[in-house]
Amino acid sequence: MCGIVGYLGYRDAYPVIIKGLKRLEYRGYDSAGIALIQDKVEVHKSIGRVQDLEQSISDKDKSGNIGIGHTRWATHGSPTNDNAHPHVSNSGLITLVHNGIIENYASIKTHLEVYGYKFYSDTDTEVLVNLIEYVYKTAKVSLEEAVRIALKKIVGAYGIVVISNEEPDRMIVARNGSPLVVGLGDKEFFVASDATPIVEYTDNIVYLNDRQMAIIGDEEFTLKTIENEVVLPEIKKIDLDIEKIEKGGYDHFMLKEIFEQVSSIHDTLRGRVAIDGKEITLGGISSVIPQFVKAKRILIIGCGTSWHAGLVGEYMFEEFARIPVEVEYASEFRYRNPVINDDDIVLAISQSGETADTLAAIKMAKEKGATVLGICNVVGSSIPRETDSGVYTHAGPEIGVASTKAFTAQVTVLAMMSLLVGFKKGTLSSELYQELIVDLQSLPEKVKAILDKEEQIKELAKEYKDVSNAIYLGRGYQYPVALEGALKLKEISYIHAEGYPAAEMKHGPIALIDENMPVFFIATQDVYYEKVVSNIREVAARKGHVIALVTEGDNLVSEIAERVIEIPSIHESLAPLLTVIPWQLISYHIAVMRGCNVDMPRNLAKSVTVE
Ligand code: G6P
Repeated sequence: MCGIVGYLGYRDAYPVIIKGLKRLEYRGYDSAGIALIQDKVEVHKSIGRVQDLEQSISDKDKSGNIGIGHTRWATHGSPTNDNAHPHVSNSGLITLVHNGIIENYASIKTHLEVYGYKFYSDTDTEVLVNLIEYVYKTAKVSLEEAVRIALKKIVGAYGIVVISNEEPDRMIVARNGSPLVVGLGDKEFFVASDATPIVEYTDNIVYLNDRQMAIIGDEEFTLKTIENEVVLPEIKKIDLDIEKIEKGGYDHFMLKEIFEQVSSIHDTLRGRVAIDGKEITLGGISSVIPQFVKAKRILIIGCGTSWHAGLVGEYMFEEFARIPVEVEYASEFRYRNPVINDDDIVLAISQSGETADTLAAIKMAKEKGATVLGICNVVGSSIPRETDSGVYTHAGPEIGVASTKAFTAQVTVLAMMSLLVGFKKGTLSSELYQELIVDLQSLPEKVKAILDKEEQIKELAKEYKDVSNAIYLGRGYQYPVALEGALKLKEISYIHAEGYPAAEMKHGPIALIDENMPVFFIATQDVYYEKVVSNIREVAARKGHVIALVTEGDNLVSEIAERVIEIPSIHESLAPLLTVIPWQLISYHIAVMRGCNVDMPRNLAKSVTVE
């Protein structure tokens, strides 16, 4: 939800900011803008992507060693030039970029209008920049102090970077709820919504906490609270590989990330399941294993694809550890006054570690006394810092908005957790534990075998690329994969798709089956196999097009289905890690064939830091 970049140092700020904004485009791509401190602050904006901004100002003076930039995901106001950031105060004195939502902007706006302030955009941000100017002028204080006083009047979430004509040697940075990191270079400073725009310049990073401000000037970096108490910055070394945040020869990040699943699953297992080992070790949660073992209930919370991973986790924990599990959308959980007991474990799943609803749900669960653990991908993000302990997925940076490798890494972690807890609790036999550890280790090679079928899957995509609707069906462990398959298709190809438990078909979706409807079945070998085959027959009898995933060697389904894709055999609990991959590839190829922007689907953003 909006990406922010700032630079102050000896380099030209423009190329640093533009490159950084491109790295952050996954956060929003409705408009982009930049402000550079020259004789005075010069602002340029454009609707559309960062490259549109670049083109629109190709002939402009872009000099300056201090600047701020923004790529927007529209919340207040449509994607227009006026609503694009940076926003400038009425007298042109103050300029800022903002990620987040100012909830009480309407009352502040009314107040400022009384003092003659005019508003030219529909945004909450324009209200904030004018509030800062108002404080600056009326209280006759420094920029830092004006920002501080203004922020104390604000209700809502913000990550902001502020510059001013009157203090042209500094940037004021502040965070509450929306992520911001500062990179400390040699006589230069970088600010960004995450570390990806910064890593090629410095690996010394400071993550701002909520209600913290940083004052950045010539060779000056001071961290304070909004209450003006100086805080000793904790400088973290970041280990992020530049190659991993670039496309590396693939046409799209999404395709690269689908193919990376061989290594990302391997990386997620590495050090936790030894190659020749017979044990699972999860250092991040070792201290809470006794709590897990006696937990009466596990509450899993997440959004989007992470919620789907949670559903797979529900089946795993209930089967192996015999602990009742509830999987909740974080957005529902946080507002419905849920019953949370001391002996519950709350498990939050998030790729970005920044999803606002998940973060709010965690805070609420902590207040109610629950032990809150996280499964996150982005190291140092807000959720790992907010949870009691957790396990990182080690999938590496995921840039494509549609989540792929993060899902399989999350499910891999859930498998390790549930197996470990089940084994320690005694609800999982040593034999099955060993067998599943061997299966876990076989995953990268089996994923590779599926990726090798890309051409076959692409052919299949060609046949179904023009449909308007699709249904995905699966049962048991494969039900969440049906949901995930449908989500992938709709989010990147804009084809309406729905996922259902296969047995539910008879309660509604079957009415939709006709000669135009493709139905994507998961009919791998498990306890539901026979029943799913019956569902396939029901669809075929109504002239629906059946595309089915089957276990290698299956001869039955190919007689009924139009198309089958074979999946290597594996224990049914781990099969979602394989069956999701053809669905990812089909969605990807259909979207590309339909001319859609797969890495940046319309209206979506990768990191949803607003409610
Ligand atoms: C957005 C993304 C999804 C993601 C969801 C949850 O909607 O587009 O891909 O699954 O947020 O994000 P999280 O970072 O918490 O996993």
